[in-house]
Amino acid sequence: MDRSFIGATTVSSSASSNSTVIEYNYSDIFDGDSDYVSGSDSYPSSLVSTHADSRNVNGRRYLSRRQVDYSFPHDEEEEVRLDLIHRVWTLALEGKMFKAPIPGSPNKILDVGTRTCLWAIDIAEQYPDAQVFGTDIAPSKLPWAPPNLDVQLEDVEDDWVFPENTFDLIHIRSMAGFVTDWPRLLAQSFTALKPGGYIEFHDFSSLFECEDGTLAPESVLNLWVKTWEEGATQSGRNWSTVGPEMPAMMRVVGFENVVNEAYKVYTLGARPQEDKRLREMSMCMLRQFLEGAEGITLDMFIRVLGWDKKDVEDLVAKVRKEMLNPKINAFTRGHIVYGRKPL
Ligand SMILES: C[S@@+](CC[C@H](N)C(=O)[O-])C[C@H]1O[C@@H](n2cnc3c(N)ncnc32)[C@H](O)[C@@H]1O
Repeated sequence: MDRSFIGATTVSSSASSNSTVIEYNYSDIFDGDSDYVSGSDSYPSSLVSTHADSRNVNGRRYLSRRQVDYSFPHDEEEEVRLDLIHRVWTLALEGKMFKAPIPGSPNKILDVGTRTCLWAIDIAEQYPDAQVFGTDIAPSKLPWAPPNLDVQLEDVEDDWVFPENTFDLIHIRSMAGFVTDWPRLLAQSFTALKPGGYIEFHDFSSLFECEDGTLAPESVLNLWVKTWEEGATQSGRNWSTVGPEMPAMMRVVGFENVVNEAYKVYTLGARPQEDKRLREMSMCMLRQFLEGAEGITLDMFIRVLGWDKKDVEDLVAKVRKEMLNPKINAFTRGHIVYGRKPL
């Protein structure tokens, strides 16, 4: 695939403002889907319909497997789920974009796996003098972007195109289950950072944890999570990397002053009543699970794990029911991990 620089393919600028409409060549991104139709994939053909730019599974759109082994949807419903997660992080960080103690303002910033560019747009607006880059295998079409944001088609697992010592900050959010070689990604980030620059991860290391026994080990929710994790492992990935394992991996690569902050988002059952911020985080988290459950399950369970479509639908219905059971109290653990490239 031609990994063209998206900034260079910007198609129009509004005369009345400095806003820019960014278009992507979706035939490059989705690259047809004849690999599925030709039977090189494990979907039953009844589940798969194709059109020029995408692959549909049960009404949800997913990336071509030629592109990358990515199991979450790439459609508008998924963008709504990502909006909700963005809101959770905005509330968790109380409006800050990052926690790394960067002296002064960052000049060059990279957002890896940027997708809808929500974080990248916010930081570009907060730091109008900074140059912000977002990379993704399939960034969303943006109706508008700040002039100091460039979006590039890049696979983070390929060789990076950025010169050494470029960035003050590299931000990586919600990529936990999607990277096969974290040490290589960390090494490439280390090289691309300026001395004294920071890498920062925002991610969830678990879907549900429970401290009062109301989420039984044999619950459908636990079965769902465990099975999803088995699928990730089969695809060479690990969901829980960012919290528990990332700090040690970062130190091996050479990062220093590594900080790992963990916190709970009360997702199921009782929610914080007094604190409006925590309550809104809970609501957004639950909503993104309820609305996103089918999309994040279909591809992994059918293609990777070989489940039947009907069984997946049944499971998702039961998962949603348990999520709404007020007697189950469970939280989701978020992690903010950052570290510095030595001066
Ligand atoms: C769950 S989304 C998170 C998007 C964004 N970081 C956010 O927090 O809203 C994961 C993103 O990673 C991208 N992605 C997955 N594998 C990738 C890879 N190998 N290289 C670059 N991007 C990748 C997907 O296309 C998707 O946009």
